[in-house]
Order: sequence, then structure tokens, then C-alpha cells
Amino acid sequence: MSVAAVLSGLGAWLPPRVVDNHELSQRLDTSDEWIRARTGIGSRHVADPGTSTVDLAAEAGHRALASAGIESVDALLLATSTPDQPCPASAPQVATKLGLNGIAALDVNAVCSGFVYALATASGLIAADVAQTVMVIGADTFTTLVDPEDRGTVPIFGDGAGAVILRAGEPDELGALGPVDLHSDGELAELLWVAAGGSKQRQSANPSDYFLAMQGTAVFRHACARMAESSRVVLDKAGWMVADVDRFVGHQANIRILQATAKQLGMPADAVVSNIETTGNTSAASIPLALNDACLDGTLMAGHKVLLSAFGAGLTWGSAVLRWPEVVPG
Ligand code: COA
Repeated sequence: MSVAAVLSGLGAWLPPRVVDNHELSQRLDTSDEWIRARTGIGSRHVADPGTSTVDLAAEAGHRALASAGIESVDALLLATSTPDQPCPASAPQVATKLGLNGIAALDVNAVCSGFVYALATASGLIAADVAQTVMVIGADTFTTLVDPEDRGTVPIFGDGAGAVILRAGEPDELGALGPVDLHSDGELAELLWVAAGGSKQRQSANPSDYFLAMQGTAVFRHACARMAESSRVVLDKAGWMVADVDRFVGHQANIRILQATAKQLGMPADAVVSNIETTGNTSAASIPLALNDACLDGTLMAGHKVLLSAFGAGLTWGSAVLRWPEVVPG
């Protein structure tokens, strides 16, 4: 029988400082009503200066190890697009912080789709017998990328980290990662990007080029269409009907995106899992954070058929399915 990557541990971490919409509306031309109505977000967690992506990732990773009841893994994948430095990757520093110096460690940058991309990569490492256990962390500090003066992006993003442990197991076990579907479209990179500071536009006279620029309406439209399309592909590969899905854990970009995607799929609204009200969009951290919260509050239970779907800058998007295991968040 072929080897599967089985989810056996889960953990998350949010920086303690909470910034609610009322606080934002004191310095930006916006309101709690507008942000809630357009996005479903009420507050977000923000990492204070001195707290980095590596710090958040290590906290989540530590909890995932405790949840799995293990002290070490063979490999660590960090899904992030806000590493501590432009070079090197941050994953080795996370491993060191966890006392796992020496293990295989690399970053996966597929922005908000990064967690689903990293799950697929981890599954490949396990299938190829490169690793028996892999920690997959989604961690981002997107509040460091947004222009503090931009009311179009500031309300949307928050910081955080979520982590899972995958171990080699059997495809028919609860927690075994099922089919995965991944895509990208670099022609549309400009819809959501930071223009300057990389190897192409090394310097810019326009300070806003160093911050995240977003064409919100176009991103919204692509997010719904691509997540619905990709969800149909994995469901088909898994042999599941839409009606079989107990929980849809999509990237927490906007409650209206999640609802519209579910509607396009013909899925009941109560299958949609969302914690965006208190987290905002935490990029690669959003799916594992939503899994963690849903597991803690009993929304997600062992045996549930779970559909994961993500969309992000790049553009990138992808989906995966699994039957939820017996797991207690660490
Ligand atoms: N507060 C108040 N008004 C705001 C505002 C804010 N924070 N941000 C924008 N507006 C204004 C706009 O200036 C515009 O005003 P105008 O009509 O006078 O020009 C109006 O609200 C409508 O803006 P629009 O951009 O059309 O609103 P929208 O319904 O598309 O909602 C987003 C904006 C950003 C919430 C929405 O497009 C979105 O969520 N897009 C996807 C973003 C995303 O998920 N990105 C990450 C993907 S991984």
C-alpha cells in the first residue's frame, strides 16, 4: 500500500496585541461598519516591533509538537512570504528556535496559498521517504507589508501562525491527506504585489512601491472563481460530492469571498468555517489558524470530510481534502 501523509498534530499562535476596527478608524478614513460589512473582519492581531515571523512560527510549531506528542521531526516547511530577512529562508531559524538544529528546513513562498502548497510538498517528502515526519507551518506578519496610511489594505491583514505535524501513515487512516490541486498565474502578479525592493525594481522614488498594492475588486473576483474551480477538481479526484463535505476551510481573506465560493460550489453556508472576524487575513497562517480554532470550539470533529482551498498573490491557488483526525490542539 502507498504511503500517505497523516495529520497528527496542530498548533497556532497569535501575537497578543489586538487592533480592532474602532482603533483603525481613529487614524484612517474608515469605520467599523464599513470593514465588517465588506470583509467580516472586526479585529486583527498585530506583531509588535521586535516580534518576527520566525518568533510566531516557532510558537505555533512548539504547540504542534506538543499536540502530536513528539519532540522532533525530520523536516520543517515554513510557508511564508514575510521572512525575517530577504535572504536566507527563515525555516532554518525556526528549526533552531525549536531545538531542532540540523533537520531539513526550507521556506515555501506561495503567499496566501502557501500552506496548501507546503502540505503538498510535505506529502511528497514523505512519499519519497526523505522524511517520516514533517512540520508544516504557515506564518506571516503581513502588517509589516501594508502602507499604514492605506485604508484599502490595512483593515484586511493581520499577523499569526499555525502549524501541523504530518507523519507517514496509511491512505485510509483519518487525517491522511487526500488529493491536492495547485495552480498559478504569473501574468496577474500585479493585482497583488510589492513592486520594489526585489531584484527587478531595486529602488524606487515612490515610497508606496515598497508596500503591498492591491486591486481589490479584481482579486475578489479571481479568488472566488479559482477556489471554486480548484475545489471541484480535488473533490472529483477524491470521488467526493459537494454534499459530502462537512467543513469548508478556505483561506480567510474575506467572509464574502468564502460565502461566494461556497455558493458557487452549491455548498450550504453552515459548512463554511471562518474565524476571520477576530484574525483578519493572516496569509499563509490563515488555514491552520482556522483549523485550530474550529477544532478547539468543536466545529471540526474527527471523521469530518474537510475541504481546504486557498488563493493568494502570485497569483497562486490550490485545494486539498482530508478526513479530520482525532487531534487535540497543543
Ligand atoms: N473604509 C471605507 N471606505 C473604503 C475603504 C475603507 N477601509 N476601502 C475602500 N473604501 C471605499 C473605496 O474608496 C470606494 O469608494 P468610492 O466608491 O468613493 O470610490 C468604496 O469604498 C468601494 O470600494 P471597492 O474597492 O469597490 O469596495 P469593495 O466592495 O470591492 O471592497 C475590498 C473592497 C478590498 C474589501 C474587496 O475588494 C476585497 O475584499 N477584495 C479582495 C481582497 C483580498 O482578499 N486580498 C487578499 C487576497 S489573498
